[in-house]
Amino acid sequence: SHYMEFITVTPAARPRVALIQLNRPKELNALNLQLMQEVAAALKELCADDSVRVIVLTGSERAFAAGADIKQMAGRTAIDMLTIDQFSTWDQIRKTHKPLIAAVSGFALGGGCELAMTCDMIVASETAQFGQPEIRIGTMPGAGGTQRLTRALGKARAMEMVLTGQPISALEAERHGLVNRVVPVGQYLEEAFRLAASIAQMSPVAARLAKESVNRAFETHLDEGLHFERKNFYMTFASEDQKEGMAAFVEKRPADFKGR
Ligand code: HXC
Repeated sequence: SHYMEFITVTPAARPRVALIQLNRPKELNALNLQLMQEVAAALKELCADDSVRVIVLTGSERAFAAGADIKQMAGRTAIDMLTIDQFSTWDQIRKTHKPLIAAVSGFALGGGCELAMTCDMIVASETAQFGQPEIRIGTMPGAGGTQRLTRALGKARAMEMVLTGQPISALEAERHGLVNRVVPVGQYLEEAFRLAASIAQMSPVAARLAKESVNRAFETHLDEGLHFERKNFYMTFASEDQKEGMAAFVEKRPADFKGR
């Protein structure tokens, strides 16, 4: 595995569970372009590694990430931004096949909030705060914030967050279904690992197809989404894991999923 400057990758942090930790603590994990490329590269490697079934993405206790790197962006023109095309990296992250869980404590602001929402699930510490403060520096969310917050919170609350820059607490985020659960600050990473472990024992084939299907609910209308779900459901029957899972149930024993 090659050297990463701004993240730390632990492929076997727990059995079948990998950890990516954002590691720019002095800058509150501000997301510069290289850091995001490192995250995308790490996810690609972990996805190619059959020993990894679920990936946890975390920051520090003080900050998951305080947003895109303002110092790096400050002088850019619109055409610089267009040419740099940072969102192709974000698209790679969004298309990760394996379940991806964000373990969030402290600041999840701007691109940090958007990165957390790009993950499949969020486990939050009670100190976590989620916000889109871009309006305060004369810009706006660019990595999905206006879309994902609006879907989770509804128009009125999302509009307020995006137009005032005011963050919401972990508990409020939980109430709106933006995060899966909120735990004391000493426990958020362990809780994320617990959630990851419970998914890591499932068939990775079924998990991939199911993840794609849930995501379709955000990308299309119901008829199309149901059609997609049905195709993926049928496809699980092409796997050995489906035969193993159902045989194990009938034989009253635990299933041993191989990812085939
Ligand atoms: C670059 C950042 C940064 C950021 C913090 N730092 N956030 N550097 N980009 N987004 C740096 C600070 O400059 C400082 O370094 C160090 O991290 C510690 O931050 P402080 O401000 O001293 O800490 P504190 O007073 O505790 O305040 C924490 C904070 C504040 C409330 C999170 O740092 C803040 O408001 N940050 C910016 C949040 C934001 O606007 N995010 C949206 C960015 S735009 P130095 O060396 O100066 O002391 C965005 C667009 C996304 O995300 C679009 C798509 C990717």
